[in-house]
Amino acid sequence: MTHVLMRVRGRLGGNCLRGLSTTSVCAKSASQTKASEPQKEIPGPVTQKLKKEMDKVHQAPAVRFFIDYEKSKGNYIVDVDGNKYLDMFMQISSLPLGYNHPDLIKAAQDPKMISALINRPALGSFPPKDWTERLHKTLIDIRPKGLSGVQTMMCGTCSNENAIKTAFMWYQRKKRGGPPSEEDLMSCMKQLPPGTPSLSVLAFQGAFHGRTMGMLSVTRSKAIHKVDVPAFDWPIANFPRYKYPLNKNVDYNKKQDTACLQEVEKIIGDRKKDKRDVAALIVEPIQAEGGDHHGSPEFFQGLRDLCTTYGIAFIVDEVQTGGGSTGSWWAHDSWKLKSPPDMVTFAKKFLTGGYYYKEDFKMNEPYRIYNTWMGEPSKMLLLEAVVNVIKRDNLLNQAGKVGKELQSYLDSLQGQYPKHLSNARGAGTFSAIDCSSAGLRDKIVNNAAQNDLHIGVCGDSSIRFRPALIFEEKHLKEAKEALSDAIASAVQSK
Ligand SMILES: Cc1ncc(COP(=O)(O)O)c(C=O)c1O
Repeated sequence: MTHVLMRVRGRLGGNCLRGLSTTSVCAKSASQTKASEPQKEIPGPVTQKLKKEMDKVHQAPAVRFFIDYEKSKGNYIVDVDGNKYLDMFMQISSLPLGYNHPDLIKAAQDPKMISALINRPALGSFPPKDWTERLHKTLIDIRPKGLSGVQTMMCGTCSNENAIKTAFMWYQRKKRGGPPSEEDLMSCMKQLPPGTPSLSVLAFQGAFHGRTMGMLSVTRSKAIHKVDVPAFDWPIANFPRYKYPLNKNVDYNKKQDTACLQEVEKIIGDRKKDKRDVAALIVEPIQAEGGDHHGSPEFFQGLRDLCTTYGIAFIVDEVQTGGGSTGSWWAHDSWKLKSPPDMVTFAKKFLTGGYYYKEDFKMNEPYRIYNTWMGEPSKMLLLEAVVNVIKRDNLLNQAGKVGKELQSYLDSLQGQYPKHLSNARGAGTFSAIDCSSAGLRDKIVNNAAQNDLHIGVCGDSSIRFRPALIFEEKHLKEAKEALSDAIASAVQSK
């Protein structure tokens, strides 16, 4: 084995553990370890015990580790067994500033936070007096170009769900030329037309938009999410599957775009003939859970144009891509659209869910887009601190910069292991690489954990990287050592 990693075991309790980072300070006590010869039990005994207890009263099969959130700090997560990992997955891409960021601790100690936490409002009816100001200082301040309004929601899934509902209501309002008629109101109570119209949403193979009943009909990433659940009869089109590197596969990738756009247009036409109009199209800028599949600006421009031509709402799901890791607040900024999306949904790094909308998509009647909470005021106080830190510390730029370095490292890995690794790709730190099999991918991820690096998976056999925006070059250096060793060991043991 040529790749022997000199590193510090990430176990708390030794001399190394006063600070939370794995550093050369601890080099003297470092043991030489090989990922191929695991020395720690993952998950550890304490996690296993807690998981058994949890399983008796709560769903637990997806639990990987129980975490000590007090001890986790910055880019490092600490589990209950004392294992410390450099975290490049960050709560499924959702923590913008890592663990226990001092500015967020300060924001949490603001006296305003107490009222926000203990007087949780029914936001749609009784918003706090400073709610509009809170919106301006956060979501409106960083809104995507061309979108004037924002509606907060509870999570990514319900943001998509409500954006799609909004699209249906918009579509029918356009068709009728006004609000619902008496006939609409009567017939919808029997789930009959015209009040219950036969409309559909077009989504893509490999998409992930959430797991509620409605969203499962536009989600096609993994069968386990969908199995046993009835679905709407909504159409699915192919999403481009590019070959990498992009600059060496221009013709192939262009053909992918053209074929997918033609298919979308055909589906729209067929559905219209069938009187089951496509009212909305929902798409991720990068299909994340489905395997980090990218689309080109030209592909998305084509989708925008088709939606405009056929009067369809164009919804961009930025639940995972939004919030800065691509080097921009919004991944769709890079498409340079002539006309903005009609709605953009978000959650994860924004700490609250929600969707932005064009003026035309505002609902005038009460209770059409509504639920009890519709968001969370305490999260908006934290979000204000997040937005300020991202701007002050120039973190979008940082994600772009360190992302380039991560990307070139992934390129070099696939050069080194052409039979095992391929399709290195990314935008900012939002990156991925494919493995030749799911088995190899899982070995690499487990070996990386042995080397104190926590990374994610997506699609059939991809590894995905989703570090926080505070991820720096020194963290990348550490990640490279851990990952290079993890890969070497996994490939050798195949
Ligand atoms: C693109 C995308 N849309 C929607 C969702 C669902 O968000 P949530 O888990 O907050 O409901 C996710 C979650 O991973 C996602 O990645």
